[in-house]
Amino acid sequence: MRVIVTGGAGFIGSHVAELCLSRGHEVVVIDNLRTGKVENVPEGARFVEGDIRDLETVKRLFGEVKPDWVFHQAAQAALRPSVIDPWEDMSINLLGSLNLIHTAVDRSVAKFVYASSGGASYGPFAPVPTSEEFPVQPNSPYGITKHSVEHYLDFYERNFGMAWMALRYANVYGPRQDSEGEAGVVAIFSRCVLAGQQPTIFGDGSQKRDYVYAKDIAMANLLSAEGSYSGVLNVSTGIETSVLEVLAAIQEAAGTTIEPVFGEERVGDIPRCALSSDLAAEKIGWRATVPFREGIAKTVAWTKEHYGL
Ligand SMILES: NC(=O)c1ccc[n+]([C@@H]2O[C@H](COP(=O)([O-])OP(=O)(O)OC[C@H]3O[C@@H](n4cnc5c(N)ncnc54)[C@H](O)[C@@H]3O)[C@@H](O)[C@H]2O)c1
Repeated sequence: MRVIVTGGAGFIGSHVAELCLSRGHEVVVIDNLRTGKVENVPEGARFVEGDIRDLETVKRLFGEVKPDWVFHQAAQAALRPSVIDPWEDMSINLLGSLNLIHTAVDRSVAKFVYASSGGASYGPFAPVPTSEEFPVQPNSPYGITKHSVEHYLDFYERNFGMAWMALRYANVYGPRQDSEGEAGVVAIFSRCVLAGQQPTIFGDGSQKRDYVYAKDIAMANLLSAEGSYSGVLNVSTGIETSVLEVLAAIQEAAGTTIEPVFGEERVGDIPRCALSSDLAAEKIGWRATVPFREGIAKTVAWTKEHYGL
């Protein structure tokens, strides 16, 4: 298949591109390197530096590549920056996505797989583990834009017949995650303790999240493209892990015992989040396969090697 991966120079997109290449697909990555790095683009993929907000660039790319599948991972991918600059979040996550979806419809793309968010969508009152049926209540500009794209996809399928999938990711972690961003506690803590520095925990560390390994997420993307189901699916483990437990697992893998510093709890942080992925198991035969400690050990090993720590 001919495949376009948007944001393929970023963390998750690079894993999706890598998996597609390993299955013999022809992969073209588009990324403007806002947070991504050329070195993340896997060998064998063609890299096009470009901005998905530019409709002409998107049209030219689709005209050249004639993709069968699109994996749309490019985004302003963090919650807090979207509060500070909702315009930038809106332009990348909404306008950029609309450019891609509209062009994909024009080009009769067979499957459009979109990286949505579970954590930013369901809000603080959702029962745990949350299923797709629970009403979405985004609590940030990021959550609003990520979710809105699902409605565009639904609209374009009902009116123009394009098959799609919106995967609502839980908290994704693994090699190549940016440790300088504000999201990605595993990447940040791993680099911090390996460098011998004290990690900062905001609040008391009891906040629980659902951590899913990036390679499992890549597989969910591939199965989504291969399958015939259209719609929304959570991709998650359903298991709650606290920030303190994350740090303990990282320290065990890194062989460190560094005391954390505790900072003020961040406004808008929800105490618990875990998503049920039963529907993904039923519709695309997907389940998370990488146990937490194994994923953490791999991430710590990668961090150590990558940063020479
Ligand atoms: N990491 C998580 O835990 C998580 C959770 C839920 C959803 N997601 C979603 O998964 C996707 C990937 O996230 P990630 O963690 O890999 O983030 P990331 O920042 O590593 O990757 C995003 C990529 O998009 C690129 N990009 C940004 N704006 C662009 C533009 N205008 N044109 C072209 N490329 C652009 C960036 O340079 C980067 O390479 C995003 O859509 C994000 O919202 C991530």
